[in-house]
Formats: sequence, C-alpha cells, structure tokens
Amino acid sequence: MQDLDKIRAEALASVTAATTPEQLDAARVAALGKKGTISGLMKALGAMSPDERKAAGATLNAVRDEVAAALDAAKAVLDAKVLDARLLRERIDVALPARPDAQGRIHPISQTIEEITAIFAQMGFTVAEGPDIEDDFHNFTALNIPPEHPARQMHDTFYFGERPEGGRHLLRTHTSPVQIRTMLSGKPPIRVLVPGRTYRCDSDMTHTPMFHQVEGLVIDEATHMGHLKGCLIEFVRAYFEVDDVPVRFRPSFFPFTEPSAEVDIGCSREGGELKIGPGAGWLEILGCGMVHPNVLRNCGIDPDRYQGFAFGMGVERVAMLKYGIPDLRTFFDSDLRWLKHYGFVPLDVPTLSGGLTR
Ligand code: DAH
Repeated sequence: MQDLDKIRAEALASVTAATTPEQLDAARVAALGKKGTISGLMKALGAMSPDERKAAGATLNAVRDEVAAALDAAKAVLDAKVLDARLLRERIDVALPARPDAQGRIHPISQTIEEITAIFAQMGFTVAEGPDIEDDFHNFTALNIPPEHPARQMHDTFYFGERPEGGRHLLRTHTSPVQIRTMLSGKPPIRVLVPGRTYRCDSDMTHTPMFHQVEGLVIDEATHMGHLKGCLIEFVRAYFEVDDVPVRFRPSFFPFTEPSAEVDIGCSREGGELKIGPGAGWLEILGCGMVHPNVLRNCGIDPDRYQGFAFGMGVERVAMLKYGIPDLRTFFDSDLRWLKHYGFVPLDVPTLSGGLTR
C-alpha cells in the first residue's frame, strides 16, 4: 500500500487543479470511477488475508472519504462560480427599450380611442365612463326620448327580462347615457369625453351588434355653438392630420340637442381612392348639438344659467376612414394576420406632441 500516499496526493492535487466542472468530473472518474486509482486499490483488498484487509481497508476507506469530500467541496465552489458567471451573462438591463420585434399589436379600435382621447385631453377634457348595462331612464327618458318617441325604434335595443319591480334593463344603444350620469353626479363646469362599447340589434355589412362610440359633453355658463364648432373643427384636423380638411355642419335632429347638426368632412375619390381633404365629396363623421334644456332640467341643472354642447361619433367609422380599413366586420374577427397588418406597435402611444400616428 505504499503507493496509497501517492495516489491520495495525486487525486487531491487534480481536484484542486480543476477549474471547470468537466475537469472536476475527470478528477472524480480518475480516482473514484470504476477504473479509478482508488477503486483499483479497493479491488485489491479482495486478494488480501482478513487481517491485512482490515488494516488496509480502514486506511483506504479514510482516503476514499477524504477525496470524496474534497470533490464535493470543490464542486460546490465551481457550481457557485458557474452560476455567478451565468447570472452576469444573462443579466437584464431593465432600462433597455422593449424588443422592436414584439409580436403583439394594439387593435385599431384601441388605438383610435387613444388618439381621440389624446386630442380632447389637450383641450381639457377628462375621460368618464358608464355601465354597458343601462336602464331606460339614462339611455332614453332623461335624454328627452320619452317612451313613445319614434327615436326608440331607431335604436334596435337589446332588452333584458322584466324586473320584479317593473322596467327592463338594456344594453346601452349609445354612450349618451353617460352624459346623464355625469350631470347627475357632478356640477358644471363639465368637460368630459366618454369612449365605450355600445350595442344595437343590427348586423350586416355596415353594422355589428357591438360597436364603439366616443361621446363628448361640455357644460358651462357661457358655452355656445361657436365653441362646439371650434372644438370639433380642431378635433377633425388633429385626428385626420390634414390641416385643410373642409368641415361642414349640416342641420339634423337628435332629441337630446337643439339645435342639432351632423358633421361632414371633405374628401376626394380620384382614381377610386378615398382621400380625406379638399375635394368634391363629403363624409358624415359625427352627430352633435347644443344640449336640450329638457336634458339639463332632467339632471337638475338650470338651463337659464347653464348651456353646453354634446357630440357623439362612431369609433369604427373614423378608424376605417383614417386607416383605410374597408370592411367593418373584420374589426371583430380576431384574425391575427389582419391585426398584424392594421394593428399598432404597443409602445407607439399616440400623443399630440410626439405625433398621433407614426
Ligand atoms: N347618441 C347619438 C347616436 O348614437 C350620437 C349623438 C348625436 C350624440 C348628437 C350626441 C349628440 O351627444 O349631441 O346616434
């Protein structure tokens, strides 16, 4: 057993010398593996007499345990080193910009609502919201649409079942009920913008049962039609990003405004291509008017002291016009190829200072 000391020294030396997990493993195999030096001596024990074996076995076991312990200790050190190196290599710099090849896209409806909101926020509007499930009072009656009013038929309302206490809930047919909620819960001056989902029992090429509107409401003591016009002309130019787009206010009727108007924007259709801007054509984009005194009264606001204007527009419609999306129904198909084509890069948040669309 005189070479035991040498074998021990060699085994411990190669453990110490190992600088990688692979080298350490080689040291382990060389000493303790099946054909390793220490294992070889273990096998030789079999050929000894019982007494010899007893003495040599104890020494050999001690050496084997010592080498095994050295291997374990070295392995712990090397593993920690490898982990440190990996942590360093894989460190994430959270200040880096998001990857430009991100897969997700912002839906054009969300983008359009963000753009519209950015423009009106600049004018001092705040965003208000209301429930999708409404009652008759907020959706119709308070908006000067009494039960027998023909405008109710035009709304193709989705109704819920009769309530025990009478009356039926409904899916709001427009965002206008949020005008009522805003005026009932706060005092003038009011300047709110209300984006949201709306519902009508209607489905064809140009109608989907669920669609989106943005409503606006301004109430103050000296608000007049000039403010309404200035505000909406400014909006149209900012939204379509066409400075000289003609804007026309055409007399119309809504029960909740008096006078009422619809807003058309100029367009041309040369060579079959629709272009927003000066041209021979007009496109209707929104409804508006001065809030009807009855509506103010229904909300406890004195119409002799306060006036204001309101407007409402279809989000899908203005999105289709701006982004050249030809078919309304594709908005709700959840087709990833469509979304990749018409969608927006998540971090391109629309702002007036940085540009609405990039
Ligand atoms: N609520 C109307 C609709 O859904 C749109 C509308 C028109 C809203 C005129 C208004 C407004 O606030 O003043 O057809």
